Amino acid sequence: MELGRRDFLAVSVMAGAAAATANRSVMAAAGGGMAAFAAPAIRELRVAFVGLGMRGPGAVHRMAKLPGVKITHLCDFFKDRAEKQNAWLKKNGKPGAKLHWGKEGWKEMLDADDIDLVYNATPWDLHTPIAVAAMQHGKHVAVEVPAALTIEDCWRLVKTSEATSRHCMMLENCCYGEVEMIALKMAREGMFGEIVHGEGAYIHDLRSLNYADLNQGGYYDHWRLRHDMVHTGNPYPTHGLGPICQAMNINRGDVMEYLVSVSSRQAGMSEYANARFPKTWKADSKPELGDMNTTVIGTALGRTIMIQHDVTSPRPYSRINLISGTRGILADYPFRVALDPNHRGAHGWMGQKELDKLAADMRHPLWKTAGEIAKRIGGHGGMDFLMDLRLCYCLQNGLPLDQNVYDAAAWSSLCELTEKSARNRGASQDIPDFTSGAWRTTEPLGIVDVDLAKMGFKVDQNVKKDDAQLSV
Ligand SMILES: NC(=O)c1ccc[n+]([C@@H]2O[C@H](COP(=O)([O-])OP(=O)(O)OC[C@H]3O[C@@H](n4cnc5c(N)ncnc54)[C@H](O)[C@@H]3O)[C@@H](O)[C@H]2O)c1
Repeated sequence: MELGRRDFLAVSVMAGAAAATANRSVMAAAGGGMAAFAAPAIRELRVAFVGLGMRGPGAVHRMAKLPGVKITHLCDFFKDRAEKQNAWLKKNGKPGAKLHWGKEGWKEMLDADDIDLVYNATPWDLHTPIAVAAMQHGKHVAVEVPAALTIEDCWRLVKTSEATSRHCMMLENCCYGEVEMIALKMAREGMFGEIVHGEGAYIHDLRSLNYADLNQGGYYDHWRLRHDMVHTGNPYPTHGLGPICQAMNINRGDVMEYLVSVSSRQAGMSEYANARFPKTWKADSKPELGDMNTTVIGTALGRTIMIQHDVTSPRPYSRINLISGTRGILADYPFRVALDPNHRGAHGWMGQKELDKLAADMRHPLWKTAGEIAKRIGGHGGMDFLMDLRLCYCLQNGLPLDQNVYDAAAWSSLCELTEKSARNRGASQDIPDFTSGAWRTTEPLGIVDVDLAKMGFKVDQNVKKDDAQLSV
């Protein structure tokens, strides 16, 4: 039976409230009520991981290094992947976790009462089902990008988070990138003047990974290729979009209203598959995904955001990372800035010396506090660690998270809407206001930081703050 949206919301609210575990006080939040939501502080944070393929293990290793974090459950389709991570925990002096495996092992895991946060790094189609079920079981949720593939699933996340008062944060690690955070700091200092335009992208040659088999280090069951076979538009929009939305205060003063999206023809994957795997299912099945997708978003305050996706062309990696306003521009790949504070005109990028000074002056406090540790621990140059660090810090101290469920939904909504638009000659699509109007009153994301000493990191006073050693 197809549920209408209203029916679905009612069912989801009831289901959420009914299934929430008894040991947590669960209050339903009204539409928009999770915008500045802070859960009671959880000093000893118990984390369960689901999805231990290419992405998940790195997260296990990073989180295991955080004081006050205990990994209590590990789950993957493959038993040996859960066992491997458990062996890593024990080898590194941590208590072993409970293990779950198989297609539905995550369901059994969610019944456990020693889980505060479920960290979900499974293939895309499992993001929303596991996140919704986890919240209904009283757990906070951190879910990989994109959090949902359809508008209906975006609403399911929003309504379940509101009904259960559980956090649902999408793990948009690029919001913690060094340059993205410089851009955010510059935006907050007003250095761009009035921000009117942004550009972001996911341009990453994934052809070899997409076609690789599991024993060659490929994705589980070729999940990404299978998605690309039947979908077009932009299935992976959030890496470029998230940081721009934070700089523009989307869902916190402005809101994305509509988009138009056009995809190029598909050529790169077929050519690659025919050249590398002729006369196999890989060459025979023709992906729907256009090589290049370009989307333009309009916001309520009249700003524009351009987002691109191309994972099939032989192009160097780029997220573009461009913020443009009435007094300046920042762009990345390579990192460049041009400023015009006095309206004299800016026709060239600033020189390297000036750029280095600006980057040092505008270094985000989070990078100042923990950037060196983050670089040492790793994960996309440190941004993954900073994301996990902030997530745990906020949960341990009862603070609102940097990304809320409305961000997860709004940023992920592009998956369905870009496909609809691209299949319809770029027809304009409305972007739902997942905040139910709360974007008008929600405070912008501040320039946030962490207190490493408060978290229990051993900070050696004799060395610079950036050289603080992990206590583990
Ligand atoms: N934010 C980032 O920078 C970034 C980088 C890489 C991947 N990702 C995201 O992480 C997620 C995982 O990507 P990946 O590259 O690790 O893919 P992967 O295929 O290597 O890993 C997925 C894992 O999920 C497991 N799995 C499949 N079905 C399962 C089930 N029913 N129950 C439990 N486990 C199941 C698989 O066995 C596999 O180990 C994706 O959503 C991807 O978009 C994000």
